[in-house]
Amino acid sequence: DLKIGTAVAGGGHHETQPYPAPFTYDSAYREHLAAEFSSVSPENQLKWEFVHPARDTYRFAEMDAIVQFAQENHQVVRGHTLFWHSQNPAWLEQGNFSKDELRAILKDHIQTVVGRYAGKIQQWDVANEIFNGDGTLRTTDNIWIRELGPEIIADAFRWAHEADPKAKLFFNDYGVEGVNAKSNAYIKLIPQLKAQGVPVDGFAIQGHLSTRYGFPGDLQTNLQRFDDLGLETAITEIDVRMDVAAGTKPTAAQLEKQASYYQRALDACISVEECNSFTIWGFTDKYSWVPVFFSGEGEATVMWNDFTRKPAYYALQESL
Ligand code: XIL
Repeated sequence: DLKIGTAVAGGGHHETQPYPAPFTYDSAYREHLAAEFSSVSPENQLKWEFVHPARDTYRFAEMDAIVQFAQENHQVVRGHTLFWHSQNPAWLEQGNFSKDELRAILKDHIQTVVGRYAGKIQQWDVANEIFNGDGTLRTTDNIWIRELGPEIIADAFRWAHEADPKAKLFFNDYGVEGVNAKSNAYIKLIPQLKAQGVPVDGFAIQGHLSTRYGFPGDLQTNLQRFDDLGLETAITEIDVRMDVAAGTKPTAAQLEKQASYYQRALDACISVEECNSFTIWGFTDKYSWVPVFFSGEGEATVMWNDFTRKPAYYALQESL
């Protein structure tokens, strides 16, 4: 039942990926996307700034194309994301709305977007990155929590569930691979929400890793304690970046280390019963976000720019 997924790059409306979705014009990309994955995630195409560029305007064409591609290729889709502090449009962040207006805007957004794809999205990252590293809620930079209080998190899940009762609804975050203050905050919050009848189905770990740091050896233990709460779990955005000076190639040792991180993450997921989705955040360096975001780091995916396979690709294949 384990789905193997990738983010789908592009869309053409975003500064880091100012090109259309590569599956529409890059045949090598399209063939790998169709053949090697059983799940796809929009890398940017469902973020507020992209899908909801003005208060009364939704832009669905790019996501519609991803969903159609997925259906043609018998893939499931992960929805990403509805409630986040980042990649929000200026009309929202600088809008001076009343609390009632903001609540109505969020509800309309969730019900419009989730409703449009009802029955076509397997899992939704409803709430993304709601905690700081120390386990406190993002009360300053998350507009919803700041303006409407923490109770709005439960409403976001309820509204999504109303709009698509079959979709599985997740929390998603980075820096929660191991047992730490942030993952502990989710261990505390989710049972509280479930006790109130809030429809939370899963906890997802993004998995943006770097060979600069050690592999989070307690990943499996951490996934298991969420599984023990009766939740589905998932790895949703794994990539493993490496230090690469401009114009140089990573060494064989770096590539082996990268391969082992990918494989250990997949093995951890496979070992946990309800860990049912393992998604890499892009499958080729050609379109990866990493060099744009992390200066001096790159080559984080499982395929080179020309789609030839790295040791990481074979390591994943070996575990499947
Ligand atoms: C990233 C995309 O990959 C980039 O193209 C974009 O410029 C910024 O966002 N956590 C998430 C993802 O939940 O949505 C982010 O994706 C990476 C970190």
